[in-house]
Amino acid sequence: MAKMWTGVTDGVTDSIADDFNSSIHFDSRMYAHDIKGSMAHAMMLSLCGIIAEDEANTIIAGLEGILADLQSGKLEFDMSAEDIHMFVEQELTARIGDVGKKLHTARSRNDQVALDIRMYLRDEIDEITALLKGLVEVLCDKAGEHKASIMSGYTHLQRAQPITFGHHLMAYAMMLLRDIDRLSDCKKRMNMSPIGCCALAGTTYNTDRRFEAEKLGFDGICMNSLDGVSDRDFCVELMSAISLIMVHLSRFSEEIILWSSWEFKFIELSSNYTTGSSIMPQKRNPDMAELVRGKTGRVYGDLLGLLTTLKGLPLAYNKDMQEDKEGVFDACDTVKMCLKVFTPMIATMSVITDNMKKAAGEGFINATDLADYLVKKGMPFRTAYKISGQLVALCMQKKTVLEDLPLEEYKQFSELFDEELYDAVNLENCVKRRISEGGTSVESVEKQIEFVKGQLKQGEKNK
Ligand code: ARG
Repeated sequence: MAKMWTGVTDGVTDSIADDFNSSIHFDSRMYAHDIKGSMAHAMMLSLCGIIAEDEANTIIAGLEGILADLQSGKLEFDMSAEDIHMFVEQELTARIGDVGKKLHTARSRNDQVALDIRMYLRDEIDEITALLKGLVEVLCDKAGEHKASIMSGYTHLQRAQPITFGHHLMAYAMMLLRDIDRLSDCKKRMNMSPIGCCALAGTTYNTDRRFEAEKLGFDGICMNSLDGVSDRDFCVELMSAISLIMVHLSRFSEEIILWSSWEFKFIELSSNYTTGSSIMPQKRNPDMAELVRGKTGRVYGDLLGLLTTLKGLPLAYNKDMQEDKEGVFDACDTVKMCLKVFTPMIATMSVITDNMKKAAGEGFINATDLADYLVKKGMPFRTAYKISGQLVALCMQKKTVLEDLPLEEYKQFSELFDEELYDAVNLENCVKRRISEGGTSVESVEKQIEFVKGQLKQGEKNK
């Protein structure tokens, strides 16, 4: 097909080069954004007296028709087109004739593509945010159900101190809350309009960039035309925010995988979210969680790919920048897919509180509480720590636990011990007493849930 940019050359290129150059197979997904951007551009051109009002109306009606036909499937993408921008313009001219050729006045594909990606990605941010909120809500509900379910907290994957399962879940809710915040922060910088920067230097026409920006829901305009067409920071920022979401989902997945193993058996995933083995009939594999963990690497790859592409680029536009889209689209698709499967997987998992409690009872995770008990009776912490350690060693030797060791044994280590020590090492009490803000006590977990729900509501208001 003859190129629209036939000028100094005859526009005939090698067909392999054409395929290599074309981006339509991945940028066609931005068709609606491209068309809406063009409608606003036509409006602006007529408002500024650059084209006539009836010309603008013809262009807009033509674009509306193309949009409707693409949406209904009546019109198919021409995969031999160079990109989505060329496809729409060609189709427009085919439909409305020469007046279609006026649309590209006072713009370039360089600012057009920058506009389209920003518009496309800000919608993606809204979708990802909604999915994150759904997961946070599920976590709040589950945490509420399990605000008093005792489990061991771990450090170094060694049993450490008693916590509640609700407390553990709320840790993830906090991470995801930050993710939501990061996305909204990223959107602020993304939501600046590059249209009107044109090829690189601005334009000689008397355009109104701010009208176009406002029409398209932007908060402002890019203030330097070179920067406007060269900037892909917002893609990098989004992918790094998504990478962090994936970090969180991946850590959570790792725990889900551990917890559902026979070694832990703290949870059982619904059969809707596990798979069987083709050879071992007893298996229930946590494939969904493993895939989320696995796909995290792929999203990091998307981020690193673009960072590397951008690092040596001179200003302003270079074709290298066409490589921005596949990675950022993939990161968005991947995180959305992960969230869509992760949230119901968490909502439907059953929690085996008895096993959690049993594991918590076996690891001497109340040893810190025993030391704290002595400290409250006047002993320096370091001394109390040592005695508590010796008592744990004694229990191990006698194959018993701190809760069951007779008082006489305790008294051999310190006269400060009395019957109250059994209260101090009782796991429920250990949790109950961790009343510090953000701690694991039931009231604290309740407060955390309230806080997170409040933040979600706040976010709704600020929208
Ligand atoms: N398909 C191109 C891209 O994605 C659009 C911009 C082309 N600009 C140009 N000067 N060739 O980057």
